[in-house]
Amino acid sequence: MTKTTDATMEKIVSLCKQRGFIFPGSEIYGGLANTWDYGPLGVELKNNIQQEWWKFFVQQRQNIVGLDAAILMNPKVWEASGHVAEFNDAQVDCKECKARHRADHLIEDAVEGIKVEGLSTADLDKLIQENNIKCPNCGKQNFTNARVFNLLFRTQIGAVEEGTDEIYLRGELAQSMFTNFKNVLNTSRKKIPFGIAQVGKCFRNEITPGNFIFRTLEFDLMEFEYFIHEKEWEETFEFWLEEMKKWVEHVGIDPERTRVREHTQDELSHYSKKTVDIEFNTPFGWKELYGLAYRTNFDLKNHTEKSGTDLSYMDPYTNEKYIPHAVEPTFGLSRSVLMVLLSAYTEETVKTDKGEETRTVLKLKKNIAPFSAAVLPLVNKLTDEANKVWESLKDDFNIDFDTTGSIGKRYRRQDEIGTPYCITIDFDTVEKDKSVTIRDRDTMEQERIKIENLAQYLKDHLKI
Ligand code: GAP
Repeated sequence: MTKTTDATMEKIVSLCKQRGFIFPGSEIYGGLANTWDYGPLGVELKNNIQQEWWKFFVQQRQNIVGLDAAILMNPKVWEASGHVAEFNDAQVDCKECKARHRADHLIEDAVEGIKVEGLSTADLDKLIQENNIKCPNCGKQNFTNARVFNLLFRTQIGAVEEGTDEIYLRGELAQSMFTNFKNVLNTSRKKIPFGIAQVGKCFRNEITPGNFIFRTLEFDLMEFEYFIHEKEWEETFEFWLEEMKKWVEHVGIDPERTRVREHTQDELSHYSKKTVDIEFNTPFGWKELYGLAYRTNFDLKNHTEKSGTDLSYMDPYTNEKYIPHAVEPTFGLSRSVLMVLLSAYTEETVKTDKGEETRTVLKLKKNIAPFSAAVLPLVNKLTDEANKVWESLKDDFNIDFDTTGSIGKRYRRQDEIGTPYCITIDFDTVEKDKSVTIRDRDTMEQERIKIENLAQYLKDHLKI
């Protein structure tokens, strides 16, 4: 068996569409740019990654607890957090073709090695001129001046236009972990250090989204705030960086294609004293996958001042009263889906009775695959018997049931969607041995096992 190619974006996008992982949003109306809908297999994959993350970072640790807060928050939250003033990107428009670009991306894509985070709009304009940068869409050089654009999505509360209140869709999960700090502290009996974790949708009015689900207007995020005493920040930072690397491997993202990059001072978000990104080598270059930031006590301090609620902590052992600092590991869930797919996609040459063939296989970690196994009756006559096998497994596993096409075609289809095991019911199952053939996705080896032992077999083999 030889691996022949790596995934290109075209192959991933096409497989996602053909097999029902991810569809273009609002497709029957011509779509809505940079929105995507997760189909029957995509929703299973995304949910499995999310559940695995929750187990890994929340349920399997005594000092991290969960939260599921409202997406809509009092707009004062976003003023206190600095997002209304600081959560900005600079944009330029092409006067010829009207394409809109993020100024930093335009320059960084055109000039190798350059980093322009933190530069003023005037400096960005100068760099575009000096480097003779052309519009990637039409090839002309006729841009508007760069201007600042806030990424928060605005909307209104109220049924009528007059007298409505403008509010924001949340741009990050973090703020509700800060505003609920006291509630969680008072009810969970946790002591510092402890963390509050959340998974949910965030919204950003990105100027130039793109590259499939990599950068979208709405996306799923998984993150936690880990509250500490200031003097512990460096060792806490290092600890969570190592745990994040373990998670990368755990979920099936190829660690060989990741690297850690520290933000320069100019690049740091307004709340951060130190940030590192875990980047992934995508077909469109090294890109941010996850982030780890030391937010100091910026957020709890600002919310204390602006809300008038004291968000300090009294250490029960030392009686020291202080505003806790926070280290924040953050994980794009949508980006995890993409990097998991890019890592798992494999094309390999296999020998068959008819000679050599190429098979496409998603080598997903077995416990995040959309289906744990597929039950396949060899012929339609065996459907009832196969159904009994499916019934015996359905309470513990998500099992596909596939009756269409030759058995070879069904194996290939299950390989393409990453199903770890195919369970074939044949005439011997009914007439002779009450056993089935179970085929391993990666090795393609087959073994015969008793139906009564199937559930235990899957339990043992699906663990990672
Ligand atoms: N609370 C910190 C925070 O939100 P961020 O680096 O702005 O930090 C966190 O975003 C993660 O969210 C990123 O590491 C990335 O995985 C993901 N992300 C950010 N913007 C995104 C977008 N427009 N589309 C998809 N994922 C995005």
